[in-house]
Amino acid sequence: MAMPRGVFVTGTDTDVGKTLISCALLHAWRAAGKTVLGMKPVAAGCERQSNGMVCSDVTALCRASSVQVPVEWVNPYAFMLPIAPHVAAEETGITIDLECIQSSFRRLADCADVVVVEGVGGFKTPLNLRQDGADLARELGLPVVLVVGMRLGCLSHALLTAEVIRSQGLTLAGWVANRIDPEMSYFEANLEALRQRLGTPLLGVVEFEVAPDPSRVAQCLLLPRLI
Ligand SMILES: Nc1ncnc2c1ncn2[C@@H]1O[C@H](COP(=O)(O)OP(=O)(O)O)[C@@H](O)[C@H]1O
Ligand SMILES: [Mg+2]
Repeated sequence: MAMPRGVFVTGTDTDVGKTLISCALLHAWRAAGKTVLGMKPVAAGCERQSNGMVCSDVTALCRASSVQVPVEWVNPYAFMLPIAPHVAAEETGITIDLECIQSSFRRLADCADVVVVEGVGGFKTPLNLRQDGADLARELGLPVVLVVGMRLGCLSHALLTAEVIRSQGLTLAGWVANRIDPEMSYFEANLEALRQRLGTPLLGVVEFEVAPDPSRVAQCLLLPRLI
């Protein structure tokens, strides 16, 4: 079996730019001539629409993808409540099953050169009674890209996340500094602190923009190496 080609995009927290950077990576690989698909295995905070439950992350990832596939493959678990996914699942009487996510991923990997998987919340977000986002990343076995939402407090979150990624035996393929707080003081010193300590390539510094456009953001990103 061919090695699945893709990356797992995690972040220092929820709302730090995982969706934006995942979409930008899809655009960057498209620009490099690859066929691409985004995946959001678990989404909480979805709306009921005529074609089923849809979450804005899934819509954004599908728009940035170059191949059309059934939305259930892209997003096998969709919950309406914007709450911790294992709680949302429990409320709906569903158990999140990593093997089901793995089989959706394989379907996507059969349809495109590269699959970009957006994680859920932070890296250790619980998914069911026993497993969390770290288990999901390990199950998929993809190199990980860490999105650091650059704001006060991000240094420890970034370093903790990098340590846990590596403790799973996974490769940290690169990190992105996303300027979600344009007022952050001593930005350069914080950037330098992470450059010195993360031990993986800085794929790009994404500036704060009122309405960030993933295809523009793609132009300031280096592509991570796929293993
Ligand atoms: N560089 C940036 N400049 C301005 N707004 C940003 C930037 N990155 C992300 N955002 C905004 O922050 C919010 C959270 O980003 P998103 O990519 O959805 O994060 P996550 O997927 O980690 O929850 C979105 O409204 C997004 O447009
Ligand atoms: Mg998101």
